[in-house]
Amino acid sequence: EKGTYPHYMLKEIDEQPTVIRKIIQAYEQGEDVTVDADILKALAEADRLYIIAAGTSYHAGLIGKQYFEKIAGIPVEVHISSEFGYNMPLLSKKPLFIFISQSGETADSRQVLVKIKELGYKSLTVTNVQGSTLSREADYTLLLHAGPEIAVASTKAYVAQVAVLAVAAYAVAKETGVALDFDLKQELAIVANGIQTIIDSKDEMEQIAEDYLKIARNAFFIGRNMDFCVSLEGALKLKEISYIQAEGFAGGELKHGTIALIEEGTPVFALATQKDVALNIRGNVKEVVARGANACIIAMEGMEEEGDCLVLAPVHELLTPLVSVVPLQLISYYAALHRRCDVDKPRNLAKSVTVE
Ligand code: M6R
Repeated sequence: EKGTYPHYMLKEIDEQPTVIRKIIQAYEQGEDVTVDADILKALAEADRLYIIAAGTSYHAGLIGKQYFEKIAGIPVEVHISSEFGYNMPLLSKKPLFIFISQSGETADSRQVLVKIKELGYKSLTVTNVQGSTLSREADYTLLLHAGPEIAVASTKAYVAQVAVLAVAAYAVAKETGVALDFDLKQELAIVANGIQTIIDSKDEMEQIAEDYLKIARNAFFIGRNMDFCVSLEGALKLKEISYIQAEGFAGGELKHGTIALIEEGTPVFALATQKDVALNIRGNVKEVVARGANACIIAMEGMEEEGDCLVLAPVHELLTPLVSVVPLQLISYYAALHRRCDVDKPRNLAKSVTVE
């Protein structure tokens, strides 16, 4: 039920702090967060993980790759499910397949699951829907605990996917004796508060949508490192609900082509949450501004500069996507609203895509 909310999407965005807290509770074991022993074993035994997903879930998978590689030291490949069949990579000796799917019903992903099962490989589904096809057919399941997601545009399921992947990577790192210098449970609690702060300042996002997107025909999202992955998600959110053509790309790729599209007034959303690339992304912003772009910089506290649009409460550097995606969701929401689009049911789209 959407209650007093005008749209499910807004309700689901608002639920995100609660979703993070639910995930902490669901995966809590004593002082830590972890996953079931059989899943830990499967992850620890794999020599390479193959993440398979579509759309927003694919974007969550890109972050998941960084978690498993940086936290747990396990190599990961991320594949778009619809492409996997034609371009099946050369597999490692002990692969584990991870299917990420909010609905657990995406046909493109299921097709891959069927194929890898025939080949005798093990699989784990990360899904919001217990008993869904991908959950039933995989060997193991990790649940998102996000509650039903009704709006076609995925919001709370994305943050849940990213958080659950962090929990899994952290748990397997502990299991395999990797030295960890942070407490994920505590850091996730900080994230929940950081998201809440953004939600409490919706007016600012509405103003940004008005200032930057009111008459825009197109928009760009740039970032480096993890911010690049979030840029892809920001662009998808904006295009699917507001029909503004949007593209997310790596800041460093600008000069290799996309900068040709920047004109007077082109909106460019730049994420600056990653310390090691702060100078580079600031450089990219200067490049687009010099060509007339209307740049909106979303920075993490401690990295902000005068003139930035929005400053996010600081969180652990690996967890920044959980926070930085939220203003992008809200900006998309308001941009769609200003254009009188059907926010919850955008044209041509279905909530779960059960055809290949
Ligand atoms: O249910 P799934 O996570 O497998 O769905 C995958 C995509 O269809 C989905 O994420 C889609 O991209 C959303 N509409 C994005 O908001």
